[in-house]
Amino acid sequence: MTLFEQALRVREHAYAPYSSFKVGAALRSVSGKVYFGCNVENSAYPEGTCAEAGAIASMIAEGENEISEICIVADSPNPISPCGGCRQKLAEFCQPSVPVHLANLDGILESHTMAELLPNSFSSDHLPNE
Ligand code: THU
Repeated sequence: MTLFEQALRVREHAYAPYSSFKVGAALRSVSGKVYFGCNVENSAYPEGTCAEAGAIASMIAEGENEISEICIVADSPNPISPCGGCRQKLAEFCQPSVPVHLANLDGILESHTMAELLPNSFSSDHLPNE
């Protein structure tokens, strides 16, 4: 299965009764292993989590922390665009050149590098040394 097909598959499991907007994410780590996430909404709306956050948490829980590629899928005419918070979350674990594929149900519509999606991102470089 391609990364797109895997993101499409997990999207079906999204819990999105409030927005009805299901999102799936599949990321490949540098080890080659693939991790998945889907959005999980909550009746207390701000407690919902995005698909990208789920995939990142799954990767971290397995002891990895470097993404080589990610595909995000939603049912929209235009390719889904990761929200600002997810761009920051992804930047924590992506080199600037990492491709981020944006897809709808038919396939990947656009691919951007992490740096294109979040130029000049805040990073640990901005934190004072301890
Ligand atoms: N959503 C994601 O899962 N990822 C994004 O990058 C954008 C938005 C989810 C959050 C919410 O459950 C639904 O899409 C509508 O905003």
